[in-house]
Formats: sequence, C-alpha cells, structure tokens
Amino acid sequence: MNNQSHSSQLRVALAGLGTVGAGVYKILTQNADLIKTRTGKTIEVVAVSARNKSKDRGVDLSAVEWVDNPKSLATRHDVDVVVEMMGGEGDPAFSLVKSALGNGKSVVTANKSLLAHHGLELAALAEQSNVSLMYEAAVAGGIPIIKMIREGLAANNIAGLYGIMNGTCNYILTTMERTGQSFGEVLKEAQALGYAEADPTLDVGGGDSGHKLALLTALAFGCKPDFDGLSLDGIDKLTAEDLTVAAEFDCRIKLIGQAKKLDDGRVLQMVGPCLVQKTSPLAHVDGVLNGIFVHGDFVGPSFTSGRGAGEGPTASAIVADLMDLASGISRPVFGVPTRSLNPSPTASSDDWNGKFYIRLVVHDRPGVIAEIAPVLRDRKISIESLIQRGRSADQPVSIILTTHETTGADMHEAAGQIGKLGCVLGQPLVLPILNI
Ligand SMILES: NC(=O)c1ccc[n+]([C@@H]2O[C@H](COP(=O)([O-])OP(=O)(O)OC[C@H]3O[C@@H](n4cnc5c(N)ncnc54)[C@H](OP(=O)(O)O)[C@@H]3O)[C@@H](O)[C@H]2O)c1
Repeated sequence: MNNQSHSSQLRVALAGLGTVGAGVYKILTQNADLIKTRTGKTIEVVAVSARNKSKDRGVDLSAVEWVDNPKSLATRHDVDVVVEMMGGEGDPAFSLVKSALGNGKSVVTANKSLLAHHGLELAALAEQSNVSLMYEAAVAGGIPIIKMIREGLAANNIAGLYGIMNGTCNYILTTMERTGQSFGEVLKEAQALGYAEADPTLDVGGGDSGHKLALLTALAFGCKPDFDGLSLDGIDKLTAEDLTVAAEFDCRIKLIGQAKKLDDGRVLQMVGPCLVQKTSPLAHVDGVLNGIFVHGDFVGPSFTSGRGAGEGPTASAIVADLMDLASGISRPVFGVPTRSLNPSPTASSDDWNGKFYIRLVVHDRPGVIAEIAPVLRDRKISIESLIQRGRSADQPVSIILTTHETTGADMHEAAGQIGKLGCVLGQPLVLPILNI
C-alpha cells in the first residue's frame, strides 16, 4: 500500500452521488466518531462529482469541493482513495478507476459490471501501483461475502458456492409464488415500486447475477474472472404454475448463481432459475433479500443472508472497505496475486450433473408420452415423476417431468429434440434441481 496509512486522515473523493454515493456521505458524516474510534483515522471527503450539481441529494455538501469532471479526481494530490459509484462498465467509470490506480490511489467501487468485464486488468494495475482495489459493495450489497470468502474462509478449498444475488428477481419470484400472478404483471408492479429498473433486462435476464458470480468465482477458486464464459439464463420464461408445481416437489424456484469444482478439477459457473429443496436455507430467502451458501473443505457449509441492495446496505459495504484502507488492511483483489490466478473456468451448464425439472406444453392427445419417452431413453435419462396439469381436448396442457440424475449436456440435447416433436408446443423449460 502507499503511504496513505501513515497519516491521521484518509482523504477520499466520491464519484457518483446517487443512491449509493449519498448513502456513503451520510454514513461518513453521521458515524464519523465511531469510524475514527475503530480505525484511528478520520475519513475526510475532500471532493465529490456527479452530473447535476444542483440536484437535491438529501445531504449537505456545502463544505465539500464539487468537480464537474469525475476523471479529474484521479490525479489530485489531496486524494488518497477514489470511490467510484457512477456505475457502468465503460466510461467515465472505467477510465476514472484506471487512472486513479495508475496514479497510486486506492479505489473502492460498487460497480460489478466494471469489475466483471475489466477486473483482471484493473487488479493487475492495482498490484503494479501497490494500491488496493476494493469491491465489497459490488456483490450482494450489505452482505460481507467478499470478506467472508477472502478472509474468513481463506484456509479452505471451496467446493462450491450457490447464491441468490439479485433482489429484483427474488422479489418477482416470491411475489409470483405468493399471488399466482404472471411474470409480466409482477415485473410491472416491481417497476412501479422502484424494485426493478425501467429496463429490467440486466436483472431478469441473469446478467447482473452473472457479474457478481464472475467475481465470486474468481475469488473462491483463484481463477481469472470470466463473465463472457458463464452460462446465463433469466427468469422471464417462468410461469406461476412452475412455482406452484415446484412446491409439490417440496422445492421453491430461485434464480441461483452457482460455481463449483467438478471431479475433473474444472470450475463450473452458471446462472439460472433452479429448484431448491425447501430444506435448504436458500429456499427461505424471500423478497428483495440475497443469500449465499458457501461450502469449504474444513468449515463445511456456511450460509449468509441479508439485504443485497439499497442505500444503507450498499453504502455500509463501501464504508467498511474505506475503514479497512484506513486501518492499513489490504488483500489481493481476487485473493491471490494476479500472476497466480488459474485460467478462467471452462465448464458450463452442459457439465452440470443432477436431477432436472422439465415443463412441456403439449396438445392433450393419446400417445404424447410415448413420443417423448424414447427421446429421454436414448440419452439414458430416466423419469422420476410425471404430472399433467389440466385435461382439455382443445386447449394445450402442461406436462411436468422430473428426472433422475443426468448431465446438463444430455438434458439440453433431449430438450432440443423434444421441442421439435409435433405434439409439443414451443421449447420445453428445463431447470436444474439443486441438492444443497
Ligand atoms: N443502488 C443499489 O442498491 C446498488 C447496490 C449495489 C451496487 N450498486 C452499484 O453502485 C453504483 C451506483 O449505483 P446507484 O444506485 O447509486 O446509481 P444512481 O443512483 O444512478 O447514481 C449514479 C450517480 O453517478 C452519477 N453519474 C452517472 N453518470 C455520470 C457521469 N457520466 N459523470 C458524472 N457522474 C455521473 C450520477 O449523477 P447525477 O446524480 O447528477 O445524475 C449519480 O449521482 C452502480 O455501479 C451500481 O451497480 C448499487
């Protein structure tokens, strides 16, 4: 680390004063005494930047210097740490963070998209400059999952991690299950309540969970982060019926980001809706909450849950990173020096092994099962249970199957073939059934 840990002050600049940025300023002012007692230092905001200077942000910024161009914060001599809270994978966030690290300033960011795409380059730059790049707020908001994996569980080989990492999706699924409303109806309500963005694609398509998973995978398995290589599926194809039927199998459906070490040593990372047994703590993470389950070889299963987004939890995580910097605590970005990182994960949903849930919409006529069964049999997939919902000569009906253990590759291939059968309408929905 640079010499910032030797003075009695940590001087920070805040880039972005929205939900998270204003929250950070509030904690730094309201809890200033506590922060000083715990770290021995004052964390002083010396400059701030956002787009609109005259916006009311609910905080008094009159004592702080305003700069119009956030990138100028990276080169100031009176700044030790730049806190990036603007968002976005590209500029100005990317060039600000690059420039700050290159100029010997530590960076704290909540920006998972930036790190999922450019984390390796930025981590290498931080190392070269002997400064820190901290991102506790980027994954699961207020839950200290980065600290938990990087420090608390540091002595363990991680076998797997499974998480509900997107509060918007979890709210939608929980509400669909409780009310029986469709995905579209609940999404609209979530947008009206401010739980979902006007453009919800990144959340409901699984991309946001994917950004977070890419970071956790890198940290847990010591490999280069790889967002582009992960298998990604969203929640938009789910129906309220899927959620009801899952309950009949003593499961709930959750959008899960999972990463695990396979028997052949490869690391698998995938995001998608899964059936989760009701006995798993993940099944009881409801509404906007997040929850993450980590399995270490000596600690065993470890589970943590809490608020994954919002002003207070996210700002709390940012300030915790600042307090670590004030205390002189610094760790490699992905747990080990970047030169020691293993190659990116190569396994995907095809390599997932386990039971599956399949929902088909079919014309209700004799012989339908006789057409489907050979496709499964040819890939040695055996059926564990079968439910038909409804009976109608003129209306399509749903058939729900669960399988015994098989590979994702065989299951996806079979589903593709089943989707081509004349009796089946559209592509089958295929969901892994988690056994954790
Ligand atoms: N909100 C959460 O619950 C949450 C949780 C975890 C992580 N995060 C991450 O935290 C970051 C910030 O999120 P947020 O919810 O606080 O976003 P936000 O409310 O939209 O705030 C973004 C801030 O950045 C400023 N900004 C945006 N583009 C800029 C530009 N080109 N130049 C200068 N300033 C610019 C905005 O300025 P104006 O205010 O003047 O428009 C605003 O103050 C994102 O990376 C997000 O993914 C957020």
